[in-house]
This record gives sequence, C-alpha cells and structure tokens, in this order.
Amino acid sequence: MANSIQIKKKINFYKKKTIEVSGDKSLSIRFAILASLANGKSRATNLLSSEDVISCLKCLKKLGIKIKFNKKFCEITGKGLNGYNYKNNLILNAGNSGTTARLLMAALVKSKKIIKITGDKSLNKRDMSRIIEPLQKFGVKFIGNNKTLPIFLKGTNSLKSINYKELRGSAQCKSAVMVAALSAEGKTKLECLPSRNHSELMFKNVLKIPIKIKNKKGFDLIELMGANSFKSFNYKIPGDISSASFFIVLTLLSKNSNLLIKNVNINPSRTGIILILNMMGAKLQYRNIRIYNGEKIADIYIQSVNKLKSIKLNPKHNSSAIDEFLLVFLVASISKGISEFKNLGELNKKESKRLDWGFKILSMLGVKTKKIGISGIKIWGNPSLKLNNNYIIKNYLKDHRVFMVSTIAALTLGGNWKIYDPDSIKTSFPTFLEIVKKLGGGIN
Ligand code: S3P
Repeated sequence: MANSIQIKKKINFYKKKTIEVSGDKSLSIRFAILASLANGKSRATNLLSSEDVISCLKCLKKLGIKIKFNKKFCEITGKGLNGYNYKNNLILNAGNSGTTARLLMAALVKSKKIIKITGDKSLNKRDMSRIIEPLQKFGVKFIGNNKTLPIFLKGTNSLKSINYKELRGSAQCKSAVMVAALSAEGKTKLECLPSRNHSELMFKNVLKIPIKIKNKKGFDLIELMGANSFKSFNYKIPGDISSASFFIVLTLLSKNSNLLIKNVNINPSRTGIILILNMMGAKLQYRNIRIYNGEKIADIYIQSVNKLKSIKLNPKHNSSAIDEFLLVFLVASISKGISEFKNLGELNKKESKRLDWGFKILSMLGVKTKKIGISGIKIWGNPSLKLNNNYIIKNYLKDHRVFMVSTIAALTLGGNWKIYDPDSIKTSFPTFLEIVKKLGGGIN
C-alpha cells in the first residue's frame, strides 16, 4: 500500500446498503490463547485475520502449539495448562497487540525457562506494571526492573491463588489475572471496576470453569477455582463493534444515508458507543438479536440524522466505549452544545496517546476544546462545521484508530486530506478501506 491516502470529497449518500465487518479482535485473541491451554483441537470460524491476531498465533506457534488457519476456520491444538514446549532463549514478539502481550504473559505463568516478551515501537512504550504486579503475586519472576517491554519472565511451578483489586477498569488486566488463576491452586478472588466481560463469558459458558460473578456497589466480584484443566471447544466469532463503529458514524454523519451492519457483537460491556450516540440523538436500532454462549449478537441499523445534541457523559460509561472515543469526539464536534468527557486517562495509554490526538485533530478542524482536569475534554460543537482547507494526519506510532477516524472525518466533513499510514488498518480491520470504497468513498 502507498504510505498515505488522499480524500478530496465527502462521500455521496448511500441507501439500503448492507455490510459485514471482520471478527471481533478481543474474542479472536482470547480464543487463540485459551485454545492453546485447552486439551485437544479447538476450532473458531470468522477469526479476525489481522496483524494483531497473527502476532498472537505466531507467538503460540513458537510455544510449540500446532495451528491451522485458513479462510474457513482456525484450528488450534492445545496441550493443556502446562503444555507449552519451546527452546532456550525464546523471544516472543506481540507486535502491536497489548491484549496478546498481557494475556500471553499470564499464560506463561508455569514456564520453566526465561522468556523474553517484546513488541513494536508503540507496544514497547505501553505500561506493563499493571500485569507485572498481579503476576508477581502469583509467584512469577520478572528479571530486571522493566515496566515496559521488552520484559523477561520465568514462571513458577507452585502458583499461589491471589486476591486482587483491579482499579483501572482494564479488561486486559482482569483477563490476565483470570488466565493465570487457571494454573493456580485454590480460589482466586478478583474485585474489579467493570470492563468488557468476554473472558468471564467464555470461562463460564464455553470452558465450563467453575466461576462466580457478582456485581456489588459498582465493582465486579469474580471468584475462580484454579488447577482446572479444560476441554477443547468451538467458537463462532461475531463481528467487532469497534470496527462497526467507524461505519456507524460514517452513516450517521452522511446526509440521507442508511446502512445495515450484520452480525455484530453487542455485548453491553462493549456498546458504550451505541448508548452515547443514541443519547446524542442518533436512532440506532438492533435487529435480529440473538445470544451465543452468553454474548449478545445483532444486526445494527443506522440512519443519518440532521440534528445531534451535545452530551455530558457519566464516566461510568467510559470503559464500554474505550476504543471509540475518537469517534465520539468527532460526533461531539458537530453536535449542538458543549460536550464533556472526564476521567479518560486510560485513553493516553493506548496504541498512541488518543486523548492528545483528540485535542490535536479537533483543533486542526477549528473546533474549540478545553482540558477538564488532567484527563477530560470539553468540546464546543458546531453543527454547521464545514471544512475547506488542507489537512495532514501523520502519526508516528501508526495508530490504526487515528487513521480510521481521520478517514471518517474527511468523508463526512469535507476538505482536502492527506492521511498517512493506511497500512495501520492491518492491525485490527484490514478490510476497512475496501468497505469505504464499496459505500462510494473516494480514496486516492
Ligand atoms: C481489550 C481491552 C481494552 C481495549 C483493547 C482490547 C481486550 O484495553 O482498549 O483494545 O481485549 O481486553 P484495556 O484492558 O487496557 O482497557
């Protein structure tokens, strides 16, 4: 692919179009890691074929796991909880994928030899202390004091169950503790701020692990018995709401358009974007709702609307929209009134500093913004915002979501855009530009 794209025209209206987005990234990576720890052959259909997932599969192969991945399915032959088999001085590269790095470290709690975990330029900047701390409590050894990748770890044979409080609302941390707990003797107790609950649903409904989940005073309490081996399993991965969101916003902001996105995961711990947009005046609808292994799935129907209103978002919704905030900021910038979003510190700990990107992109578009405290943003919406200038987006950490949100801004607000790093979509949503073109978006 060229190293940039150009967009010079808004997208024309489109009607009665139907699309599907690729498989859910969180579920794909969870499937791969859990299947590698199961006993026997597990199979997934619609596994996301993207660089993040491929990085995960490559790491598992290096751990001696057999994997067959073709257009129809992905088959992983797990060797049980203590079954990884690998050479000395092993290096595992998680690429751009935080979920892979963090969940994989948890899957390595019993490793007998030292393993080096590393990643790309962006992942190597991200905080790993949030994983090191609970894994150390389990008894895992970390060589050196690195709090970012590369990290050297060595497992332990006598893994102790732990009590742990997760206060960031991070599903990666919670899931890492859950994966490590599988290998520990006794009961692990987790108290965590709510975050996406795919791991809980998989443990309970698919792996049939004895697990108790309660909600008390805004916290999720999870209790999990360890030393449980589990059987291989099959899984049908639904479409990713985070990928669908780009097309939800594209349709919402394009005049006189409508779109149906089929087969999307609408787990309530992921649908903050739908809730927020509907509170702002969108009329998004779910059709054909069904439940699969505890996950809610539906087709999403979107119609463009003429009037959107600002929102003062209760931060309790942050985690269910955590990967969608750049899109939310874009919608807020053309909505009537002043929007406020608070407690978004975690956004600056993603593939790039996304809260900072929010300020940068909006100020480039001439939208007034102001900081609220250290991690909030106030946005003065302008419903008649029209762009005529030249806009260049170059992000040196090549964040896929910065690329995609810029593309949606260009296609809905106008102006003459040059957006660098189209290759970044390969990490989460390789067919993104194909779908944009299918809907009539002019990309050069
Ligand atoms: C993910 C959890 C979120 C999210 C990431 C995927 C997961 O990260 O941003 O894209 O699959 O568990 P945090 O757990 O760090 O919030």
